Amino acid sequence: MVKVIVLSGVPGVGKSTIAEKLARKLGAEVVHLSKLVVDNKLYVDYDEVRETYIVDEEKVREKVKELIIECEKEYMVIEGHYGELVPKEYVDFFFVLRLNPLILYERLKKRKWPERKVKENVAAEILAVPTINAISVLGEDKVCEINVTGKEIDDVVNEIFNYIKEGVCPTKQFIDWTILLKYELLEKFLKTLHF
Ligand SMILES: Nc1ncnc2c1ncn2[C@@H]1O[C@H](COP(=O)(O)OP(=O)(O)OP(=O)(O)O)[C@@H](O)[C@H]1O
Ligand SMILES: [Mg+2]
Repeated sequence: MVKVIVLSGVPGVGKSTIAEKLARKLGAEVVHLSKLVVDNKLYVDYDEVRETYIVDEEKVREKVKELIIECEKEYMVIEGHYGELVPKEYVDFFFVLRLNPLILYERLKKRKWPERKVKENVAAEILAVPTINAISVLGEDKVCEINVTGKEIDDVVNEIFNYIKEGVCPTKQFIDWTILLKYELLEKFLKTLHF
């Protein structure tokens, strides 16, 4: 049975880049969830305000399950910011890439996105949304955060590769950016949210 590695994280943290390189190093099949959703029309609607597809979660789970069962490679790397949709019984490793919100903000600002969308995604990083979503499905033990801040792409790839080969995740320490950020910065990003 294929070993499934999921890479999750908010937009811009490096999921696609790392997934491609990791897959090459492992000889793995790679699945880009956002491409899979668009190519197979696995969405229910398009959110004009957020400029993003609203995915049909059940259809995504079904399609991913199909690909895993059909996969003939030893490894499959699946990346996307809703990695928790990979059916949990097939997940061997679940990595959430975490990036310092200030660096993420600079990276996302280079995209032609509305400022609001940039800030919402930075807020999601501050609040660890991908980690929380993953833990709520898989539990804490299978979820492993990788801090990519200040690391070269190849170093991140090697770090994840080594964890996979050793069969263990790094020490269980979840990242909390709030203690690093000043109040004004937290407010700048979090006030985009409606509580
Ligand atoms: N460790 C890194 N150091 C410097 N730049 C990086 C690093 N990882 C990725 N990048 C760069 O950041 C940009 C975003 O990376 P990438 O497209 O892989 O992110 P993503 O998480 O897949 O985003 P999205 O969810 O929007 O698809 C790219 O230009 C990539 O080259
Ligand atoms: Mg990507």
